[in-house]
Amino acid sequence: MDLEKLRHQALEDLKTIKDPAPLEIWRIKYLGRKSELSRFLRSLADLSLEERRALGPKANGLRQELEELYDKKAVLLKAKSYQLKAFDITRPGRKISRGHLHPLTLVENEVKEIFRNLNFSIVEGPELETEYYNFDALNIPQDHPARDMWDTLYVKNQKSKIKNQNEGGLLMRTHTSPVQIRYMEKHQPPFQIIVPGRVFRHEATDASHEVNFHQFEGLMVGKDVSLANFKFVVMEFFKKFFKKPIEFRIRPSYFPFTEPSVEVDVRFGQLSNVSAQGGSASGGKGQWLEIMGAGMVHPKVFEAVKYPSTGSGRVQGFAFGAGIERLAMIKYKIPDIRLFYSSDLRFIRQF
Ligand code: DAH
Repeated sequence: MDLEKLRHQALEDLKTIKDPAPLEIWRIKYLGRKSELSRFLRSLADLSLEERRALGPKANGLRQELEELYDKKAVLLKAKSYQLKAFDITRPGRKISRGHLHPLTLVENEVKEIFRNLNFSIVEGPELETEYYNFDALNIPQDHPARDMWDTLYVKNQKSKIKNQNEGGLLMRTHTSPVQIRYMEKHQPPFQIIVPGRVFRHEATDASHEVNFHQFEGLMVGKDVSLANFKFVVMEFFKKFFKKPIEFRIRPSYFPFTEPSVEVDVRFGQLSNVSAQGGSASGGKGQWLEIMGAGMVHPKVFEAVKYPSTGSGRVQGFAFGAGIERLAMIKYKIPDIRLFYSSDLRFIRQF
C-alpha cells in the first residue's frame, strides 16, 4: 500500500472541506474502522517482522497526523459555525478583572501570619457578648466610670444560647478583650494567643471612627512574662508589618484590666492625612499615632479566671489590643476609615 499517496489524497480532500458534514465523511473515509488505513494497520499483524518494523511506524504516524488534522479542522469549522469568521486572533484580549481580598482581610491575614511566626495561636470569640465577659471579668464593674470608655451597643432581644444567669445583659462586644477571659477559663498558662475580630461601638462616624471596626488582642501569660517581653514582641511586629524601621514609644496610660497600663505610639512621616484617634501630638519628624493599648494583666483579671495570684503557681503576663483599620490606614496611607465599608470600587481595586 502506498502510504504517501494516501496521505497526499487525504490532505487534498481535507482542503476542500468547508462544513462539518463533509468533514465527518472524510473522517470515516480516512480514519474510520473500514478505511484503507485502518484495514492496513490491522493487516500488519500478518506481515513478517521486518515488514512490520518498516511499515508499522509509518502507518501509525500517518494515522496520528490525520487525527490531529481532523481535530484542528473540526475546531475551526465549529468556530466558523459560531460566526466567528471575522474574529481577529491577533488582537490583544480584554483583561478579565478578578476578585481579590478586601484590604482589611489582607491586613488581618498579615497580622495573623506575623504572630503565628512568633509562636502565637490564633483564637476567636463571639461578637455577641455578655456584660460579664465584656466588662465585669475585665475589672470593669457595673458602677465603674471606665464603662464610659466604651460606647456600648446593648441588645434588645435578650434571648441567646450564649447567655447565662449571672452574666448580665447581652451586648455587641466593644473590644476583643473578653476573649482573654474566655480563653483563660479553659486553658492553663504558659500560652500566647492573638485574637482578631470585629467589635462594635455606639458612636458618631467620622474620618477616624466607625460603628464597627476590627481589633486584634494579644495575650501572653507565663511564670515570668514581663513588659520587656511585650516590648520585644511589638518591636518584631512593627518591623515585619511596616517592613521598615519605625520609631515607636511606650507611654503610661490607664485600662482597668491592666496594671501598669501603657499605650504604644508610632511615628510616621508624611501621614498628616490620617487624623489621630485619641492621644497624639505632632512632632518635628511627623505625627505620633496611637496604635495600641497594653499592659500587664491585672490581678483581678487572673482572679476572675481562678489563676493563682500567690504561691508557686503564680503567673503573670501582658495583654494588648490594636485596631486593624488603624494599622491599614497607616500602612496604606488611607485618610478616612469610612472608605473600608464604602464598597467604592475605585478604592477596593487599589489593593
Ligand atoms: N480593649 C482596649 C480597647 O478596646 C484595648 C486594650 C488595652 C486591650 C489594653 C488590651 C490592653 O488587652 O491590655 O480600647
